[in-house]
Amino acid sequence: SDCLTVNQKGHLSIGGCDTVELAHQYGTPLMAMDEDTIRAHCRAFRQSIDRCYDGNGLVLYASKAFSCKAIYRLAKEESLGVDVVSGGELYTALQAGFPAERIYFHGNNKTRGELEMALDNGVGRIVVDNLTELQTLDKLAGEKGKKADILFRIKPGIDAHTHQFIRTGQIDSKFGLALENGEAMEGVKKALTYQNINLCGMHCHIGSQIHDISPFELAGEVMMGFLHQVKEQTGHVMQELNLGGGFGVKYTDEDHPIPYEDYMERVSTAVKAKAKEYGLPVPFILLEPGRSIIATAGITLYTVGAVKEIKDVRNYVSIDGGMTDNPRYALYQSSYDILVANRANEPKDYTATIAGKCCESGDLIQENASIQKPQPGDILAVQATGAYNYSMASNYNRIPRPAVVFVSGGKSREVIRRESYEDLCRNDV
Ligand code: LLP
Repeated sequence: SDCLTVNQKGHLSIGGCDTVELAHQYGTPLMAMDEDTIRAHCRAFRQSIDRCYDGNGLVLYASKAFSCKAIYRLAKEESLGVDVVSGGELYTALQAGFPAERIYFHGNNKTRGELEMALDNGVGRIVVDNLTELQTLDKLAGEKGKKADILFRIKPGIDAHTHQFIRTGQIDSKFGLALENGEAMEGVKKALTYQNINLCGMHCHIGSQIHDISPFELAGEVMMGFLHQVKEQTGHVMQELNLGGGFGVKYTDEDHPIPYEDYMERVSTAVKAKAKEYGLPVPFILLEPGRSIIATAGITLYTVGAVKEIKDVRNYVSIDGGMTDNPRYALYQSSYDILVANRANEPKDYTATIAGKCCESGDLIQENASIQKPQPGDILAVQATGAYNYSMASNYNRIPRPAVVFVSGGKSREVIRRESYEDLCRNDV
């Protein structure tokens, strides 16, 4: 990624900081994120949505990709909204001083407590997933003398050709109400009868790490078709359309992500054409990029421990982290580019399986990776780990979560401290 260079010492550098020095200063495993890259992505999305929808749009950072106070502050500074999916993400955003009216609250099974928290704090929109939630929300809002502004999560039934574990836009999905079987229209009609619900519009999200514009374009058209049906059948004109996230990023040379501009251009053209065809206003458009804001801004640094060369089988390079800070290979066989940070200029002529330190054979970061030949004590850098790494980290084997630093212009600052052993025992009785 653009934020990575190799310095005069032959060390990998991120945001002008020598990664070997970062590793020594903060310890490993360490996640380093280039703040300028994150901000550049925020601005590119914002400018593009403004241009294509004439200022009638808002970019929500999907904070499930990486959530902590610092990132909510950054999103606020960049004038983004945020998407949260749990009381914990909502709490963190509020603690960071994020404006509640720009928070969109998702989730397929929000608890009563979470819904109350959303209402009490005045979040911008609650994205209602199902009819049980709709009913609970109406009742809670009534008790509080409030009216809940909602969007409905709709399944547009689109197969976005991505890894099936992270495909969320099909009929066989736990998320949202389907169009095909009439569920969605039934929900709309119910919502319109509830006293304490204000139905503002619709939401869909068709999947993640998508490298093709067509499914997004189709989703925009299908959703506009639904807004048309809603108007025909109920007379109500929906003012908002949230088209979700899912834009692919470049993990390795195999990935060819679409430029945001092209995406925005084609989808806005399709949405506007449908609005014209149906005689509807162009709705206020929301997008929810997570991965594409943050993934390529981050790297994870590890210290190499044992190197096991099993003759005629494979080479294992063990590191001081693993599936506890990056479960994505174990879960999805995700690819990553990896290098030895202190020999960044040497040829990658060694093949190794990068193994973590958990008591679990599947605790691997990558199999058969091409890297520089490492020695114990070297610093290993795994690229593009900004999204869904720290946010999916665990304490399996009571391994503390790493520290996270933001880097910019040759300076670094800690945004999440490394967990201590004491932290691990904090709630043990
Ligand atoms: N909006 C909704 C409603 C979502 O469900 C998601 C992601 C997003 C936005 C953001 O999508 P993005 O732009 O980041 O692709 N753990 C998986 C990814 C799960 C994505 C779930 N939903 C991974 O590590 O690849």
